Order: sequence, then structure tokens, then C-alpha cells
Amino acid sequence: MVSLGARVFLLLLLALGAWGKTLPSYIKPCSIKLSDKRMSECALKSAREAWPIVFYGDPEYNTPSLNPLHLDRLVVIDGKGPLGMRLITTDVKLYGLNSTIINSTTHVTNPPTDTYVITIPNLQILAKYNVTGRILLLPIVGQGNVEMVLKYVTVAYQFDWKLEKLEDGITYYLPQPGARLDLDVQGMTVHLDNLFNGDKALLELTNNFLNEEWREVFDSLQPSFAKAISEVITRILSGIFRQVPFKEAFTDVEE
Ligand SMILES: *[C@@H]1O[C@H](CO)[C@@H](O)[C@H](O)[C@H]1NC(C)=O
Ligand SMILES: *[C@@H]1O[C@H](CO)[C@@H](O)[C@H](O)[C@H]1NC(C)=O
Ligand SMILES: *[C@@H]1O[C@H](CO)[C@@H](O)[C@H](O)[C@H]1NC(C)=O
Repeated sequence: MVSLGARVFLLLLLALGAWGKTLPSYIKPCSIKLSDKRMSECALKSAREAWPIVFYGDPEYNTPSLNPLHLDRLVVIDGKGPLGMRLITTDVKLYGLNSTIINSTTHVTNPPTDTYVITIPNLQILAKYNVTGRILLLPIVGQGNVEMVLKYVTVAYQFDWKLEKLEDGITYYLPQPGARLDLDVQGMTVHLDNLFNGDKALLELTNNFLNEEWREVFDSLQPSFAKAISEVITRILSGIFRQVPFKEAFTDVEE
């Protein structure tokens, strides 16, 4: 006879998912026994099938919605480089992640490491901006809305996995912090709206300058952009794999 208290506790545990979940239905598990090459192929197929659903976010697994992806703040130009200005964006929304192409996944078992290469053909970033600095010796100060469009953003994301026993005594297969991320882009446009104290000519000059120097703008944007992208991918992977025990994450784990 199980006491009422124990039963309530049991229900609470179940409600909290404290015994670990299974993989979300939209992620197909692979066999743990596959060779690296076959595992890479299985992971690619699984990731491509899951993406259109992962994209909408899943509160049950704490994964964020990417439709659009929200960021509180993104440093576009940090004020230290050759561009001579500081351009900070806030209330940032990224559109176009629904068209993400997953080019490849490469799995290595020993030590366990995955590399994902993805391409976003058309990434639109809408945000509020705040700019201070100088352009061609003229002081500029202003704020308004900015639209940036990045063409063919390629992201190579590499991270390690580790088997870890969590507080619940269950073994999980967890993505490790310290992912390596490489970014490239084929082109970029920047458009600041609003006027610098009503000065249309100065606004046009600034937009033209930023578009001509888009490589510099991208290089300056790269560190904070890479960090943001990396955090999102980590959030998705951790959201899922911190809740799904190792034996549920693959089809045939023997314990
Ligand atoms: C992505 O979303 C945009 C805007 O909602 C839409 O125009 C586009 O067709 C979508 N692309 C895909 C591949 O679903
Ligand atoms: C990724 O795939 C797209 C579509 O097939 C292709 O245009 C792009 O060049 C590929 N990128 C890489 C890095 O393989
Ligand atoms: C814009 O940036 C300047 C300089 O960093 C700062 O003093 C100002 O408060 C910012 N304005 C807004 C609206 O964030």
C-alpha cells in the first residue's frame, strides 16, 4: 500500500518529468552502434527532418522559437575598429532561419565531437540602433531602426559531447560548453532609417559608407553575432539533451 504522501510525490515527479523524457517525437534517434560515417549520415537526416519543427520552439524542451529569433542586444560596430563609430542594436529580430539549409553533420566517436555546417541564404535582421562616432570626420549621433540583410551566411559549429551523471542519478549525453564557431557571409546590406537631427544627406552618406564597407561591418559584427548564434544552438541542444537520458537518446544503448 503506497501512502497518499508518496503517491502525491510520485505524481509530482512525473509532472516535473524528473525521470527523464524521451526524445521529442520530431527527432529520430540513431543507433549508438553506427560507424562515424553512418552516424554522420543518420544525424544529418534526423537534423534535416527535425529543423522545420525545432524552428517553432518547444516549451516542453525549453527550446526557443526562431520565428523570429529575438536577441536583447547585438553589437554591430564596437567603436574600436577602423569604421570610427559605435553602432549598438537592441530589440533585435532575426528572420529567415526557416530557410536554413543543413549542409552537413560530421560525427566523430572518439572523442565524441559533432560539426554542423549550415547555410542561411537570406538572414534579415531588424532592430533599433544607437550610433555615435564620426564618419569622414563628421560627428554622428542618432537612433532609429536598422535593417541588415546578410546573404548566404555559413555557420560551422563544432562541439563536444560527454556522458555525465546528473543530480537525478541518471546518465545523460550532454553537449559541452566551449563550442567552436566559424562564420562566413557572401554579402551584406545595411540600412539605417530615421534622420540624424533631420539631416537626410548625412543619413545617406552613412548608409552608403556602411554598404561600401560591409566587409568591415561584418568583421566588426562577427564576434557578438557568433556568440549569439552559438548560444542559440547550445540552448536548443542542451534544452533537449539535459532532459533526455542517454539511453533514450539512441536506439540501442545497453546499460
Ligand atoms: C520562411 O518565412 C518567410 C516569411 O514568413 C516566408 O516568406 C518563406 O516562404 C519561408 N520559407 C520557407 C522555406 O518556409
Ligand atoms: C550548402 O548548401 C547550399 C544549397 O545546396 C549551397 O548553396 C551551399 O554552397 C552549401 N554550403 C556549403 C558550405 O557547403
Ligand atoms: C546611445 O549611446 C550613447 C553612447 O554610448 C549613450 O550615451 C546613450 O544613452 C545611448 N542612447 C540610447 C537611447 O540608448
